[in-house]
Amino acid sequence: MISRCAEIKCRSVYDAAIIQFPKILDDRGNLTFIEARRHIPFDIARVYWIYDVPGGESRGSHAYRTLHEVIIALSGSFEVFLDDGMAQKTVMLNRAYYGLYVPNMIWRRMQHFSTNAVALVLASKSYDLEDYVRDYEEFKRMNLKL
Ligand code: TYD
Repeated sequence: MISRCAEIKCRSVYDAAIIQFPKILDDRGNLTFIEARRHIPFDIARVYWIYDVPGGESRGSHAYRTLHEVIIALSGSFEVFLDDGMAQKTVMLNRAYYGLYVPNMIWRRMQHFSTNAVALVLASKSYDLEDYVRDYEEFKRMNLKL
């Protein structure tokens, strides 16, 4: 099948991928580390985390025009719902040694947080309100060029 993205710069949910970080098993407690240019496919400009999420709440229903990110379930579990305007994919994160790489121009939502879940996000840019696409129809138009 010829990719619908072949001639336009749109993104597919299949561009999102799990990254496995090093895991140092130890009877005293396990350890995982990330080195900026070794494990992450972009330069990290910002780190933030989401925590104390009430049951049933979701975060981040939007896309970024240019920002790339890696999302990690540091504690507990949650799902990341991804949508490129055509295909959808839901990824469950529940291990502190996995990260989900999400490129720009993917609609994404974090949902179904467990009690005490902590979502750590490594981002390729500083906070920039202008980089957000919050209107789903606008996002689809941008990504699919409809
Ligand atoms: P936002 O990214 O809009 O969260 P969500 O998509 O889950 O609704 O962020 C919520 C608020 O936090 C918003 O007012 C901006 C602020 N914020 C920052 O100031 N810096 C940041 O790095 C982030 C992620 C958010």
